[in-house]
Amino acid sequence: MLFKDERFGMFIHWGIYSVNGWHEQDQWRRHIPKDEYMKQAKVFNPTKFDIDEWMELIKNAGMQYVCFTTKHHDGFCMWDTKFTDYNIMNTPYKKDILKEVADGCARHGIKLALYYSCPDWNYKHSVNFGGDHQLAKPNDGDEPDEELYKEYIRNQMGELLGGKYGKIDALFWDIPPYNKDESMNRFVRSLQPGIFINDRGYSRGDYSTPERNVPAGSRFTRLTEACQSVSSQSWGYRKDDDYFSKLFLMSSIDKIMSRGGNYLLNVGPDAFGEIPKKARENIAAIGDWFGRIRESLMGAEFVENSDIPYRLTVRDDYLYVHFDGLAMSSGFSMRPLDLAPIEAIVLNNGAEISAKVEYIPSNFMGASEPLRPYLHLNNIPVDEITAEPIILRLKFKDINEVLSILSGKGQSIKEIL
Ligand code: GLC
Repeated sequence: MLFKDERFGMFIHWGIYSVNGWHEQDQWRRHIPKDEYMKQAKVFNPTKFDIDEWMELIKNAGMQYVCFTTKHHDGFCMWDTKFTDYNIMNTPYKKDILKEVADGCARHGIKLALYYSCPDWNYKHSVNFGGDHQLAKPNDGDEPDEELYKEYIRNQMGELLGGKYGKIDALFWDIPPYNKDESMNRFVRSLQPGIFINDRGYSRGDYSTPERNVPAGSRFTRLTEACQSVSSQSWGYRKDDDYFSKLFLMSSIDKIMSRGGNYLLNVGPDAFGEIPKKARENIAAIGDWFGRIRESLMGAEFVENSDIPYRLTVRDDYLYVHFDGLAMSSGFSMRPLDLAPIEAIVLNNGAEISAKVEYIPSNFMGASEPLRPYLHLNNIPVDEITAEPIILRLKFKDINEVLSILSGKGQSIKEIL
């Protein structure tokens, strides 16, 4: 189930905007007249698109689901819809791309979520002009009508969620419309019972979607799926985009997932159907790191604790220390914990580190306070492993005792002197 078993996914922004290769909101941001913009559909022909290659990249990175843009703000539909001609069947490609994606996912055991934009810069009855990511005014000849637009959306939901594309695990609406309408999500659920719905549609939905951002705080109290792209200028394909560093992305994945959130990492395939080389390389490297440290995130729980300046997760008998991509020192004291683990390793490479309960001078809180021993970790390879966030794994005989001390509910720390 998504949010439990499937936590790391690939967001895929793909549409005719990959032809211009500027930005998925090209029409709006550069004020391109609709007829001019639509010309991209006449040449969109991704002959190098190979869903199995995409799936290999996804699986090798340890990702377990895909969120695919069925219709972005431009209104172009990446599936065989009978409710508008502005769709993939009317391009030189002439094949239902969504069907290829859905079948590929099914073949490779990858779950599928669908992105669907509420703004629609093409459909004649679309509404909400002048708003966020909305055209300033209707295109010539359009007849905005909220009820007719919602009927169009319901019809398209019927196609997308009615069974042709198999089980759809989540619906990612984008850009909330002005007027709320609970019936829209009810309708979606009637088509795909058990589907997760995000918070950018006609009502609050099931999960939050922080975008390009790690919100402050500790454990997420609501289902959360953060999204970020490998590149910073655009979600769709952009020639010479600016790429985030791998360390930045790994650190962001670690921050979100250790707090219980899901993570969607985006790519924008080009007009030929290829995921840019730099995106593939970075995803492969991130996936390599993720594969080595995944047990500290997948199936692990965030540990609330106020004293240790690093995030902690727990799974079975293991406590994990996450350094956020910035380990300050080769050693530190895990105050208030005064128990030694039976094993302490750097999860990234399996190297052992030293972990002893001992007095160290920095635990001395003041001349009047008794000296106390705490678990002291040492020999952490902070100058050797600098290209990826370091995660430590400590194995304890009694993890519950550890958790109870960390939560402040345990026995008071033993005074030895
Ligand atoms: C924003 C953008 C959109 C992108 C989305 C991804 O809503 O408008 O272009 O698809 O973020 O979360």
